[in-house]
Amino acid sequence: MERIIVENVSYSYQNKYQTIEAVKQVSCTFESGKLYAVTGESGSGKSTFLSLLAGLDSPKEGRIIVDGEDIAQIDRDAYRRKQVSVVYQAFHLFPLLTAWENVMYPLELKGIPRKEAKKKAAECLEEVGLSEKILNQYPKMMSGGEQQRVAIARAMAAGGRILLADEPTGNLDTENEENIVGLLLKLAHEKDYVVIVVTHNPLIAEMADVRMTMKDGKMTAAEEQ
Ligand SMILES: Nc1ncnc2c1ncn2[C@@H]1O[C@H](COP(=O)(O)OP(=O)(O)O)[C@@H](O)[C@H]1O
Ligand SMILES: [Mg+2]
Repeated sequence: MERIIVENVSYSYQNKYQTIEAVKQVSCTFESGKLYAVTGESGSGKSTFLSLLAGLDSPKEGRIIVDGEDIAQIDRDAYRRKQVSVVYQAFHLFPLLTAWENVMYPLELKGIPRKEAKKKAAECLEEVGLSEKILNQYPKMMSGGEQQRVAIARAMAAGGRILLADEPTGNLDTENEENIVGLLLKLAHEKDYVVIVVTHNPLIAEMADVRMTMKDGKMTAAEEQ
C-alpha cells in the first residue's frame, strides 16, 4: 500500500549570503512492506529529504502526502508523534533513562498509563532481540548495537510504522551492522512498515527492496531490485 507520496518537493537553506537548494523538485512514492535505501554523495540532500519526510522541516514547494493527507495541513506535533519515527547514527537515547524508560517515553507522552506503557515497551524491546538484562541498563552501559536496537524499539513503540533512519549503522561494527539491517528488513517485510534508510552502507543498499539515489538535491533514480 502506498503510504507516502512526495510531489515536486523542494527545500532550501537561506543564510545572509546565499541560498542553498538542498532538495530540488523531488517526486517519489513509498509503500508499506518495503525497505528503501537512499544513497548519494555527502551534501546531496539526503538528510534534508529525510527531515522533510519526518515533518521536522516543511517543503518550500510541493507537498508530502501521508495516508492521504498533506502533512503541511495537519498538526505537526501529532504527525511526528503518531506517524513517523527517526533513528540516527548517534542513537540519541536519553542518557539518564534506562532502556526500558527510553522506550516508554513516547508512550507516556501519548498519555498511555505507566503500567501499559511498561508492558508495551517490554514487548518492543523483546521484538528487537534485546535480552531482559538490558531493560534496566543505562545507554552508556550498552554496546552501540544494543543502543541502536533500543532506538529502534523506541521508534516502534511510537507506533506509526513509518521508520526513517539516517545512517543507522554508521557507528557500528560489521556484526551489529548486519543485525540492524536484518531488523530493519523484518520491520518492513513482516510488520508492514515503510522503512526509509539513508546510507553509505553497501549491505543495506544491496538488501533494500528499492534503491534510490540523490545527486545535487535531485532524486535521480529509484530502482526496484
Ligand atoms: N542547517 C543548514 N544550513 C545551511 N545549509 C545546510 C544545512 N544543512 C544542510 N545544508 C546544506 O544542504 C545541502 C544538503 O545537505 P544534507 O541534506 O545534509 O546532505 P547529505 O545528508 O546528503 O549529506 C548541503 O549543501 C549542505 O551543506
Ligand atoms: Mg546526511
